Amino acid sequence: MPAPSFPSLTHAIGVFDSGVGGLSLLKAIREALPNEDLVYVADSAHAPYGDRGEDFITQRTLVLGAWLAQAGVKAITIACNTATVVAAKRLRENTQLPVVAIEPAIKPAVALTRSGVVGVLATRQTVQSDNVARLCEQHGAGKLILLQACPGWVEQVEAADLHSPHTLALLHTYIDPLLAQGADTLVLGCTHYPFLRDAIQSMVGESVVLIDPAQAVARELVRRLSDQTAQPPRVGHTYFFTTGDQAQAETAISQLWGAPVQVQPLKQV
Ligand code: DGL
Repeated sequence: MPAPSFPSLTHAIGVFDSGVGGLSLLKAIREALPNEDLVYVADSAHAPYGDRGEDFITQRTLVLGAWLAQAGVKAITIACNTATVVAAKRLRENTQLPVVAIEPAIKPAVALTRSGVVGVLATRQTVQSDNVARLCEQHGAGKLILLQACPGWVEQVEAADLHSPHTLALLHTYIDPLLAQGADTLVLGCTHYPFLRDAIQSMVGESVVLIDPAQAVARELVRRLSDQTAQPPRVGHTYFFTTGDQAQAETAISQLWGAPVQVQPLKQV
């Protein structure tokens, strides 16, 4: 598993996801840390993680974490709720680097709901995980928390298909039952889903609050790095890698990132 040959990844911040979804968190990190170099790995050859087994997700998390560590990054961000709830603990046991990980924002959603009903939209693995059960137990007293798996959504975002009739039908399938049960607050518990935010918001109306913890995670990363030497004022670079098809990743990432980007292949991991 050779590390990249150019030196620029040394002291960069490593960020990974099963695919392009983690770009929603990468955007928040870029805003919070404009001077830092960022390296993003989309594990597109293995997306989606949400229907995979725990052993598979753990193995991918450890392999990607090891690749980033070998490349010289100073911190790792898990930009994938599914990898976090299944494997963040194992990654932390396997690296000396700071690991910051996104997880479904159940606590803030419980604080915000007025109807007392919160919907959590996430992958199958995430909604079935012990970690999400623990979050509900810790923060959900007196509220109804509805855990909703949304199979198919990740694939639509991977294809950068955010508004087609098929995508909208898939959104209705999983959101309508939550609204029917009185949910007024919906947690976007998968980093792919913020890219569907506009479509979801126009479907549910402005009275329903959508929660994406990306900015809070970026702030946590800033805190974790605060004892390290600050980068001199400069514009940080962002490097993109994919384990999947390079041309396809370049098209999807450029569209979702909002600017044309080059994506480098990462075939050996
Ligand atoms: N973006 C991921 C998450 O936050 C993973 C989705 C998937 O690959 O199923 O859960």
